[in-house]
Amino acid sequence: MLLLHGTGGTEHDLIPLASRIDPEANVLSVRGNVLENGMPRFFRRLSEGVFDEADLIFRTQELNEFLDEAAEKYSFDRQNIVAIGYSNGANIAGSLLFHYSDALAGAILHHPMVPRRGVKLPDLTGKNVFIGAGTNDPICSPEESEELKSLLENAGANVELFWDNMGHQLTMREVEAASAWYTSNY
Ligand code: MLT
Repeated sequence: MLLLHGTGGTEHDLIPLASRIDPEANVLSVRGNVLENGMPRFFRRLSEGVFDEADLIFRTQELNEFLDEAAEKYSFDRQNIVAIGYSNGANIAGSLLFHYSDALAGAILHHPMVPRRGVKLPDLTGKNVFIGAGTNDPICSPEESEELKSLLENAGANVELFWDNMGHQLTMREVEAASAWYTSNY
């Protein structure tokens, strides 16, 4: 499992989620290497919800290459990485899916946005994606969550979209839904 934290987080944040979802899985947890006022992130943004697209593309490639290197260094199966990301971490995981057909085997995206628009996605046939969204999320509107689902589905991915009646926070209900989804897909 590849763990990708939210803005201001660290590589420690999502460890409890990984143990809950799959206690047997090997875990690679990464800290975002971009700092915004001291807060780690995975790519730069111009303002809240407005991404620095050039940096997003650069950091996505950098993370993809890091996964190649880490798979060799730690001897894990490069083709069998399931990402778990929250917020900014979900956005870079989404960006890996948007740019590379073989970066991830699947992903659990907690409160992701559409990382880029107007690009042709690679073939994502066989990829399983769980999206956890909040009906009152001020950072990601319900329309944007639906848009992300259809963009991924149009590229061939199997997508489950889970709604909780909350905002941008990660709820226990959402974690339980992601866990049930993981158990039935892996
Ligand atoms: C982002 O910048 O990735 C999103 O606005 C989510 C966040 O980190 O607040």
